[in-house]
Amino acid sequence: MTRKIAVADLRVGMYVQDLNCGWMDHPFLRKELALTREDQIERIRSAGIREVYIDPARGIDGPGLDAQEADREIEQEMVAFAEAEMPKPRQTSFREESEAARRIQGEANRLIRDLMQDVRLGRQIDSERVEPVVENITQSILRNGGALLSLCRIKNKDDYTFQHSVAVCGLQTAFCRALKMGHEDIHEAGIGGLLHDIGKTRVPDEILNKPGRLTDDEFAQIKCHVVESRRILEQTPGISAIAVQVAAQHHERHDGSGYPLGLKGEEISQMGQMAAIVDVYDAITSDRCYHKGLEPNEAMRKIFEWGKFHFNPVLVHAFTRCIGIYPTGSLVRLESGRLAVVIGQCEDNLLQPLVRAIYCTRRERPLQPLDIDLSRPGPGGDRILYYEKPEAWGIDIASHLT
Ligand SMILES: [Fe+2]
Repeated sequence: MTRKIAVADLRVGMYVQDLNCGWMDHPFLRKELALTREDQIERIRSAGIREVYIDPARGIDGPGLDAQEADREIEQEMVAFAEAEMPKPRQTSFREESEAARRIQGEANRLIRDLMQDVRLGRQIDSERVEPVVENITQSILRNGGALLSLCRIKNKDDYTFQHSVAVCGLQTAFCRALKMGHEDIHEAGIGGLLHDIGKTRVPDEILNKPGRLTDDEFAQIKCHVVESRRILEQTPGISAIAVQVAAQHHERHDGSGYPLGLKGEEISQMGQMAAIVDVYDAITSDRCYHKGLEPNEAMRKIFEWGKFHFNPVLVHAFTRCIGIYPTGSLVRLESGRLAVVIGQCEDNLLQPLVRAIYCTRRERPLQPLDIDLSRPGPGGDRILYYEKPEAWGIDIASHLT
């Protein structure tokens, strides 16, 4: 029975039965050899070979796995990899997914409200309640990202913190998916997104919702929510390091201007750098008591602009691919004179998303809604000319998104 052994453990007197590399990668005539001199081992090492198979029946033995065990180990690694690469759920249309997304969003809002209440009362977070809700969000994003994300843009002012938490969960999930991360990482990042602001339970409501300018002391109290989020999650059984990174670093900035630690560049984990972009995007697209939210396209422009300093530019580009140049929920004018709401993205072509035509500017009248995939040229082919402001046309985007 041959044995797999690290090159560092090779000794003169062993018989190498297989150098375990391609023939072009080693300087020997054959791939098996008896080790009679130290320089042979040195040549194996300098060829960059890390592990070889030895035959203990033809030379001395050494530490390592027997060949069958080594095979089994690789097989297990491959199975774990295949399981991590979960099969993609069936893709659904925006309209099909909207109904499920509405239910999932409601369930997540109720959960985060309960969890914040629990934390206020000094109870621990029950991570087993969080798991299935985040999994539902992940699956909805994987089926059709636009449906849940567009619902998440619509917030009522009183429930902002809950709705923002659900939105960050959905956006972080979609961002991870766009970066082709494995299912496990996506799920953990989603948990971090849902719970990233849980520390706000330690900040008085009158400061959190204060419409006017914050005093320095109030701002300092708000900033404390990050340290509190981290502390709460670290004390919660079953919460992963990824989820803690999202919560602990979502206010750090690439140029070191963030808080609580003022970390810079790669000192911030990738998940933390992503969470910073997602958190700001959702915050500036939301209506608050003290400001009106930006349209998604305006928000993306801001993120792009701030990307030079506050965010990792590579990740900003990836986020743009994820959200789109014409983000879902934008109002656009088409060449045909129709106004349309963007209802989904075509990942291969960000300039030609899925739209729903709703108004004819030439005849000045609403249209029977018509979904058009702009990336597919066809008889009624059309293209986007520019953005329009929904309020200029008295259009309520939300009512056209389901
Ligand atoms: Fe925050």
